[in-house]
Amino acid sequence: MFIDTVLVAASLATVARAAQPGAPKPVAAPMRDLEWGQINFLHTTDTHGWHGGHLQEPQYSADWGDYISFAEHMKKKADEQGVDLLLIDTGDRIEGNGLYDASDPKGKYTSDVFRQQPLDVICTGNHELYQASSVQREHETTVPNYRESYLASNLDYIEPETGNQIPQAQRYRKFTTKNQGLNVVAFGFIFDFDRGANNSVVQQVEETVKQDWFLKAIREKPDLFVVAGHVGLRMKEFDLIYKVIRDQNWYTPIAFFGGHAHVRDARKLDDKAYAIASGRYMETIGWVSMDGIKKKSSAPAVAYVSTTAASVSWKRRYIDNNLYGLHYHTGLNDTTFPTENGRNVTKLIAESRKSLKLDNAYGCAPQDLWMSRAEFPSNSSVFTWLQDQVIPDMVSNKDRTGVPRLAIANTGMVRFDIFKGAFTTDSTFIVSPFLSRWNYIPDVPYNVAQKIIDLLNRGGQVAALEADPALDTKYLISPEQWSFRNRPQFETSTATPDDDETSMRFGEDAGQKPLANGDDKPDLIGGYTTQDDLGTDGDDTEHSPIKFYAVPNCIQSSIGFPTDGSAPATVDLVFVDYTQPYVLQALRYSGGDYSTDDVKPYSDLSMTDMMVKWISENWKGKC
Ligand SMILES: *[C@@H]1O[C@H](CO)[C@@H](O)[C@H](O)[C@H]1NC(C)=O
Ligand SMILES: *[C@@H]1O[C@H](CO)[C@@H](O)[C@H](O)[C@H]1NC(C)=O
Ligand SMILES: *[C@@H]1O[C@H](CO)[C@@H](O)[C@H](O)[C@H]1NC(C)=O
Ligand SMILES: *[C@@H]1O[C@H](CO)[C@@H](O)[C@H](O)[C@H]1NC(C)=O
Repeated sequence: MFIDTVLVAASLATVARAAQPGAPKPVAAPMRDLEWGQINFLHTTDTHGWHGGHLQEPQYSADWGDYISFAEHMKKKADEQGVDLLLIDTGDRIEGNGLYDASDPKGKYTSDVFRQQPLDVICTGNHELYQASSVQREHETTVPNYRESYLASNLDYIEPETGNQIPQAQRYRKFTTKNQGLNVVAFGFIFDFDRGANNSVVQQVEETVKQDWFLKAIREKPDLFVVAGHVGLRMKEFDLIYKVIRDQNWYTPIAFFGGHAHVRDARKLDDKAYAIASGRYMETIGWVSMDGIKKKSSAPAVAYVSTTAASVSWKRRYIDNNLYGLHYHTGLNDTTFPTENGRNVTKLIAESRKSLKLDNAYGCAPQDLWMSRAEFPSNSSVFTWLQDQVIPDMVSNKDRTGVPRLAIANTGMVRFDIFKGAFTTDSTFIVSPFLSRWNYIPDVPYNVAQKIIDLLNRGGQVAALEADPALDTKYLISPEQWSFRNRPQFETSTATPDDDETSMRFGEDAGQKPLANGDDKPDLIGGYTTQDDLGTDGDDTEHSPIKFYAVPNCIQSSIGFPTDGSAPATVDLVFVDYTQPYVLQALRYSGGDYSTDDVKPYSDLSMTDMMVKWISENWKGKC
């Protein structure tokens, strides 16, 4: 088998492929097969505009067009076996990649790209709710594109003309599968998100599950419940929904599909209820297969006979999104794999990227800079680079020249790694899609100001921050950091004041042992080595583990301090606007009584502008 793998890899080099022009070639690796069941699912989540795939990482270099080809082939396989295949997307399709963010208006191209993939269940993520314009586009474009399958169990829309509050889409869906004739009741939730634009209303899940329509839906006696949700698998919302459905239906299988946490994860809730989360950024296509689902009513004759009818089996794979794997799982090759629709969409993405000039380079990164693959501080950490180089060079105000300052930014502001090579328009939106502005409070006593960073980084332990649920420090960090801190199988010790927080390391024990690289096997490439409730065999590709390091909630640069090393009496406390409520609260706690009235804008440049300017000035030249 491994010899075959190598041969296939060798042939890859010689033929044309789909994927985006310039996307790196996928690399051969030992694979785990997909197992089929009575009902099967493909799941995407948190794609964040990465529908062109990863152009700097071979492992994730297939695009949305390739996914369309893949799904078409897999549906054909399902039909041949008389089983079913359903496609699910659980939100955060937007924000985080030039393909979405670089157009004016944003998302001009992505709706047409995305809609080409038929889906059976689709719901909304928090990113579709931050801007009123996104909420509206979702209502006016994506919901009609997915008329049958868009579900909004706890999300309402405020109509601009009437001010009426109406469901963003239908609350739930009841349908019968094509081949097995299984009756399915499906929901589409979002976690209790409270920071949406004012034309959206997220109902607390706790309220929704008491509503009449929901109580009616869970009494429909389907053969299977499907709960899609923009909800982390280990968040309270899924537990609650599970409990309410299970109390009413002791034996009905429930399949949960989650997201938001940006991780690969699977959770067993009971013998007949399981959940999967399928990563982020088009790196992962989730695969779930279920067997042993009993039909409650008489059904059309089915060709497929389950061998394990007595109990429900649930299996999962996290498919690395690259053509090597997609070919492997379909048994097809470069010529036979791309379908007409898939090719068209690949082409549409390439044209969109071109008209958005996403490949325009601002400079050339001399090395990789990692969010969490490198320790902080270290010279491979993107946060060290920002803290020690970019922020000190860029954070200034012409009316405050010479005034020493502390500049604070939250680490969640960065969304992705920087790779050695061209730093492009696309990279800008990938690394820093947020419009973070710098504000400041002038002349804060240094003995007060210097305490802030420590309070922000201890967060949860500080009564002052804990008192206000809106100031949960999880909002300061990236979803990946937040979910790794919360996964039971990872070390989660909270740093004490004396702890060297930077020494907390998550990945090591979680990773599988790398296989020895024998002569007959391709070298393992670094990638996901997922550990979930079902074990360590979830990834479709065997990888060598990548270490994952904790980073602090916030970073701080000291700028313009006296060169003799003495402490200034006062400093300007400069901070990214997003952190303002946290900074004000921490100030109060450390004896500085300031309010929003004391806050002034510090710079016309956003953090993203500063980063791009710094790169153009310091990473000159072609790659
Ligand atoms: C939302 O806020 C905007 C700007 O403040 C305002 O113009 C609009 O009327 C508000 N919409 C609703 C539905 O409250
Ligand atoms: C792809 O598969 C088809 C059908 O099996 C075969 O005829 C063709 O030669 C293959 N092409 C490549 C490039 O391997
Ligand atoms: C693909 O694009 C071609 C050319 O625009 C068009 O004629 C064809 O109908 C498209 N095919 C599909 C399946 O959408
Ligand atoms: C980063 O650190 C490593 C190890 O300390 C060193 O070998 C390397 O030269 C450093 N790179 C830069 C760009 O400073």
